[in-house]
Amino acid sequence: MPDTYTTKLWGGRFRGDEDALMQRFNSECWRTDWLVEPDIEGSLAHVAMLERCGLLTAAEREVIADGLRSILADYRAGKLAYTEEYEDVHTFVELHLIRRIGDVGKKLHTARSRNDQCNVDMKLYVKRQTGEVAALIDALCAALEKTAQENPWIMPGYTHLQRAQVVTFRYHLLAYREMLLRDKKRLRNAADVMDECPLGCGALAGTTHAIDRAFTAEALGFSGGPCANFIDGVSDRDFVLEVLSDFSILMMHLSRLAEELILWSSAEFGFIELDDRYTTGSSIMPQKKNPDGAELVRGRTGRVYGDLMALLCAMKGLPLAYNKDMQQDKDSFADALDVVTTSLLMMERMIATLQAKPGAMRAAVTRGFLNATEVADYLVARGVPFRDAHGIVGQIVLYCEDAGKSIEALSLEELRRFSPVIEEDIFPYIDYDAILQKGIKKEML
Ligand code: ARG
Repeated sequence: MPDTYTTKLWGGRFRGDEDALMQRFNSECWRTDWLVEPDIEGSLAHVAMLERCGLLTAAEREVIADGLRSILADYRAGKLAYTEEYEDVHTFVELHLIRRIGDVGKKLHTARSRNDQCNVDMKLYVKRQTGEVAALIDALCAALEKTAQENPWIMPGYTHLQRAQVVTFRYHLLAYREMLLRDKKRLRNAADVMDECPLGCGALAGTTHAIDRAFTAEALGFSGGPCANFIDGVSDRDFVLEVLSDFSILMMHLSRLAEELILWSSAEFGFIELDDRYTTGSSIMPQKKNPDGAELVRGRTGRVYGDLMALLCAMKGLPLAYNKDMQQDKDSFADALDVVTTSLLMMERMIATLQAKPGAMRAAVTRGFLNATEVADYLVARGVPFRDAHGIVGQIVLYCEDAGKSIEALSLEELRRFSPVIEEDIFPYIDYDAILQKGIKKEML
C-alpha cells in the first residue's frame, strides 16, 4: 500500500505529494467533529448489511464493528483527535480502523463511496437536529405562555409602529407562540421529506454487488426506504437547504421578537425591563443598561440567511452528480445550527425573566386615540354606515388634537356636534378595558 494511505483514502494513482495548503484547504475537519458519531453509526449498519449479503464473514463483521465502536469510545473520551491531516470524517474513521484492526479494516468501504456515505451522515445528523431544535422551540413556547399568563395587562397594539388599537401584553406574546408552532411543523415536515437513505447509491451509479439497501435504510431509521435514484441520492442537498430555510424563517421570528424587546425596554416605551443577566453596561456611560442578548439574536439572524444563501449559490451551477463544492453544506449547517440553538436558549431566558411594566402600558393606551375605531363601531351599531362613521370619527380626532383632549374626555354635547346618534352610553362603550370585553375581542383576554 502506498505511504499516502497513512492519512488518505487514495494515492495509488498519484506520483507527487499533495501541497500542505491543498491539504488544509480541502479538509473539512474544523467543522465536522459532530459527524464522527453518525459516520460510525452508518458504517455499523453498512457492515451488518455486508455480512447479510455475503460480502463479509460474521467474524470479519465483528472485528470491524468492535473496531468502529472502540474508535467512537476513544474519540468521545478525547483520546483520538480529528485533525486537519485527515481530509474528512470518513478518512479519519477508516484510517484509524485500519490502524487498529489491520487488513480486515480495508474491507469496510466495500460497495460504498464517500459520496453516499457523507449524505447518510448528514441526513442522520440534520434529521436529529430538527428534533433538538423543536425541543428548544417547545421550551421557548412554554416560557412565552407562562410570561403571557402572568401578564394580562392592557397595552397598545401597533401598525406602522403607530399606536393603533388596544390589545393585551399577554395576547401579543402569544402571537409569537403561533409563529414558533409553525416553525416546528416546518421542521417536522423537512425531516419527513428527507427520510430516504442514500447508502448504496455509491459514487453515483450504485454497485455491481448485490447489496440490500432496504436493510440499511431500515437499520438507520429511514422510514422512506432507500433513495429511488442513485444519481439523485448523492447529488441532493435539498434536505440541508430546506432546514436552513426553516431556520431562516425561525430566526426572522426571533429577530422580530428581539426587536420588540429592545423597543419595549427603551425609555421611550418603558413597557418591560430585561433581567440584569441578559443585559450589559457601558464602559463610559455609568447609567446604561443595554439589551445585548436581544440585539445579538437580531444581529445573528443575518448569518443564518447568509448560510442559506451560501449553499444555494454553491449548488445552483453544479452538474450532476457529486462535486466538492457540496462539502460546504457542513459549514453552512453547523454555523446556522449554532446561531439557532443559542438564540432560542437566549430568547427563552429573556422572556422567562423579563419584568412587565403595566403602568407604562396603560399610560400609553390612553394617548393616541386607541378607541377611535370603537367610536366608529358605536356609530355603526346605531345605523351609521361604516364609511360615514369613519369620516365622522376622523373629524372628532382632528377636533381632539386641536383641543389637546382624548375622545373620552369630550362632553356628550361636544360629541353630538359630530353626530346626533351619540348618547351617554358611548362612554362605557369606548372605555379601553370595556372594549376588550366586546365581540370577538374577548378572545384576546
Ligand atoms: N467530505 C466529502 C463531503 O462531505 C465527502 C465526499 C468526498 N467525495 C469525493 N469524491 N471527494 O462532501
